Formats: sequence, C-alpha cells, structure tokens
Amino acid sequence: VTVYVPRDSAARSVGADEVAARITAAATAAGREIRLVRNGSRGLLWLEPLVEVAGPDGQRLAYGPVAPEDVDGLVAAGLLDAAGTHPLHLGRTDDIDWLRTQNRVTFARVGVIDPLDPDDFLAHGGLRGLRRALELSPQEVVTEVTDSGLRGRGGAGFPAGIKWKTVREADSPLKFVCCNADEGDSGTFADRMLMEGDPFTLIEGMTIAARAVGATEGYVYVRSEYPDAVAALRAAITTAYGRGWLGEHVLGSDLRFDLHVRVGAGAYICGEETSMLESLEGKRGTVRAKPPIPALEGLFGQPTVVNNVLTLGSVPMILADGAEAFAGLGTGRSRGTQVFQLGGNVARGGIVETAFGVTLGELVEGYGGGTRSGRPVRAVQVGGPLGAYLPTARFHLPMDYEAFAAAGAMVGHGGVVVFDDTVDMAGQARFAMEFCAAESCGKCTPCRVGAVRGVEVIDRITAGIDRRANLTLLNDLCDLMTEGSLCAMGGLTPMPVKSALEHFPADFGEQPAADT
Ligand code: NAI
Ligand code: SF4
Repeated sequence: VTVYVPRDSAARSVGADEVAARITAAATAAGREIRLVRNGSRGLLWLEPLVEVAGPDGQRLAYGPVAPEDVDGLVAAGLLDAAGTHPLHLGRTDDIDWLRTQNRVTFARVGVIDPLDPDDFLAHGGLRGLRRALELSPQEVVTEVTDSGLRGRGGAGFPAGIKWKTVREADSPLKFVCCNADEGDSGTFADRMLMEGDPFTLIEGMTIAARAVGATEGYVYVRSEYPDAVAALRAAITTAYGRGWLGEHVLGSDLRFDLHVRVGAGAYICGEETSMLESLEGKRGTVRAKPPIPALEGLFGQPTVVNNVLTLGSVPMILADGAEAFAGLGTGRSRGTQVFQLGGNVARGGIVETAFGVTLGELVEGYGGGTRSGRPVRAVQVGGPLGAYLPTARFHLPMDYEAFAAAGAMVGHGGVVVFDDTVDMAGQARFAMEFCAAESCGKCTPCRVGAVRGVEVIDRITAGIDRRANLTLLNDLCDLMTEGSLCAMGGLTPMPVKSALEHFPADFGEQPAADT
C-alpha cells in the first residue's frame, strides 16, 4: 500500500512528521512494506494531519486528524490494508463533500502527488501546458492567456494577458519573469501551499511566461517565513534542470530560461511589486513611483513580468486545457477559479478552490461551517489586512472583483478571516492603522505619518474624547490616505477602517447598534 502523510508546513505544525515516523515504525514492526509519500496538503486544515492510504485499486481512503498516538490503533484497525473501520476514518478522500464540490484547477495536483517527484508530476498532466506553449508562437501564448480572462491573483486583478503583451512588445534584449511569493496578507496561505504541494507547476507557469514574453531569466521572491516552500522550490528547480525543463534548450527547444529563488527578509511592503524589485536588486525594500510600470522598466530597469504565485500557477492548466475551459468558469469579468483561503475563527479552515461567483456566505457558513468557537459570526475580513470588514448582511455578495469593489470591499488575494460576536471592531480598525504604521516603507507622508495619527485618533474615539470631532477627523484622514498615498499600503488601509465604521458603528459609540 501507499500511505500519504502531508509534508505541508500546516500539517507539520500539528505533528505530521511524528505521525509519518510512527507509521513507518508500525509498518516495520508488523513486517509490512509500505510506500510512504509526503504529499502536499489537500487543504482541509482542520483535519490535519490527514493521512491517506491507497490500496491496489488506487482509491485513497482518508483518516484525520491523526495524532501520533492514534497510529498504533489505526494500524491495528487495518490502516495498512486500506481497510477496516476506525473513528478517524473519513471514507474515500474524493467523496468528502468539502473537496468533492470544489473545482480544483490551479490546485488540481496539490495533495494528490508527491510534490518533489517529477514522474508523479508528469503522470498527472505536468508539462502539458509548457509543451503546448512551445508549439505555439509567443504571440499565440499571450493571446491564449488573454482569452482565458486570467487576472492577477495577487489582489489587484489586472488582466495577465495585457501585462504579458506589454512585456512582449517592449523592445529589449533582456527581460525577466518575477514571481511574487511574498504572501504577506494575514489569513492567506495559498501561495505557500502551492509552492510546497506542487512546485513544478509554478516552474512550468514561469517558463511559459518566459516563452511568451521573450524572457531568459526568472526569480521567485519568497518570504523568509516560508522555509519549507523555499526548500521545496529549490529542490524542484534542481530536478527541473536535471530533466532539461530549465536552462538551455528547455525540453529540447530553442527556449533558454534560468530560474532562481530569492528569500525576503520579513517586510510586508516587499510584497508590493516595485519594493520587491528593489529588494531583488539588493536594495532596501521601498516603493518606486509608477510609472514607469515594471512591465516596461522592472528588474534592473528591464521589462519584467511580475505575477503572483497563483497567477503563474494557473497558466499551465490554461495552456493545457485551452483558454475556453478556464474562461467558461466564473462570473462577469472574474473568470476561472480562485483559491479562497478560510481562516480565523472558522470551524473548517483551509483551501477552497472554486469558480468566482460563489457567495461569501457559501464560503463562510457552507465550507467554513461558521465559527470554531460556536458563537455567531459577526464579521469577516476579505482580502487581507487591507481588506474590508463585512457583516453577515453582506453574505449574499458573490466573490467577484467588481461586485466587491461596488460594495466598498475587495476580493484581494482571496483570504477570508472570520470573527465571532466577541470581536471589537474599533479594535480591529485600530489594528489596521497600527499595522500600516509598522509596515509603512516611509516614503510618503500620508501613510508614514497618517497611520500613526490614525491610531491616536481611534484611541481618542474609543476613550470618548471629542468623539464626534474625532470621527470627522478619522474620516478626513482616511480620505487623505486613500487619495494621497503612493501605493496600496497607505491607500488601502482606510478600507478596513471605513468598513468597520460603516457596518459596525456601535463599536465606535455610534448609533445604530445593528450591524448593517
Ligand atoms: P495596481 O492596480 O497598481 O497594479 C496591478 C498590476 O498591474 C501591477 O503589476 C501593475 O504593474 C500592472 N499594470 C498596471 N497597468 C498596467 C499596464 N498598462 N500594462 C501592464 N501592466 C500594468 O495594484 P498593486 O498596487 O500592484 O496591487 C494592489 C493590490 O495588492 C491590492 O488590491 C491588494 O489586494 C494586493 N495585496 C496583496 C497582498 C498579498 O499578500 N498577496 C498584500 C498586500 C496587498
Ligand atoms: Fe511607502 Fe506607505 Fe507610501 Fe506605500 S503608501 S510608498 S508603503 S509610505
């Protein structure tokens, strides 16, 4: 039998390594030969460590959450025979409702394959996209991505095909592809899980991008908090070179593409693309004024594709299955799937990849199962620490860039953080300003000074000092930061603050009390 125990760092943080060691020991003691695969996580994080067993028919049975001390009991109940009953038995993995109802495109292989086994990757459709890209002209590859409707998954939702076209048409002998893996948003972890669970997909996506725009060199900028992702990527890149998937003559073609990993030093602002480029160049991570856009003057002043992990990770499937298949999913101008991440006070946290258009309520109450505390949901923050707080009255909102923007919110990188009715929304608003004050790069005054003043003003409001005057001041300050900041850090910090004020006025001592 084959036994799967995730190597994903979320699973490791709750004891997956020890579970794997116990299973190996139990198999040895029982004189049984097993193949132990350290796969990526299936994304059902409340069930980690989720152990799977595949019998001769290849069907995978799931058990979870498995603690190290459960292993002996599981083995006694027939785990190594892919049979038997046990309280932790969850049935066939593919039949688990939470997973079955998703539409996994970018995450199709995550949790299924051994992330570092190139043959497993190939056996599950790996390199189909790149092979097709090499048959097409670079222009046709760009057209395919444009037609798919793929938009930047980092948060801004800019059409990937248009960005690639800009880089492709830029006249320069040296171009770069940079992957932004500085996943700094609170409550987001999809980039990490893709890099740990299927790193070859990212390599394939970046190589396709290189082919499309005429780049010869790429960098993945990974945050230092992701050592497992860094290790997985480095190992996968070494393997890819060995297989001729990177370097000179990629897959025997005339494409040359070299790929490097660079590790950040722990600054949120280095997730802003121009700061990231500064950091990649070895400088302090401060924001550059745009224009010029990186597509024209990016890394070392050369035309550069900067895309998020999920954007580049979606490209292989788009090329493999065609633009139409991807564009056929979703709603309005939000095409394809998004990898939503459920976190915070939620009963069933993890990865939900599904077509855009799923409602916020379906994610939080349906997949998420409400709060972990069992108390009523009061607020959810969508799109990271700079995203809006929304009350349950907004649960009908479809996950769609435009619908969220119209509601004064943003889908962002797809993080959804849940809070129960004990949350203090004035405290959350204060946190947004505090976060901005701590993470500001300091280049422009509205953000550098405004965030510090924002904390002070909110403190006065909650202390009941000149409340009305200070509320007016807070609103003015928010408008100033939105209009006057150089980048999204200062520009978006007012979003959580204003949404908290709008939907939860009672927490600021205002009427009405009801969340709207
Ligand atoms: P932006 O709207 O300025 O740019 C989006 C992208 O489009 C950039 O790559 C930009 O260079 C490119 N672009 C714009 N015009 C172009 C053109 N004519 N041709 C080619 N490319 C063009 O947004 P920005 O400041 O890059 O990102 C803001 C977003 O970042 C926020 O909405 C937020 O959701 C997200 N964010 C994500 C985080 C994460 O951890 N993933 C953390 C913090 C913010
Ligand atoms: Fe730097 Fe903040 Fe200005 Fe952005 S808004 S450039 S983070 S000071």
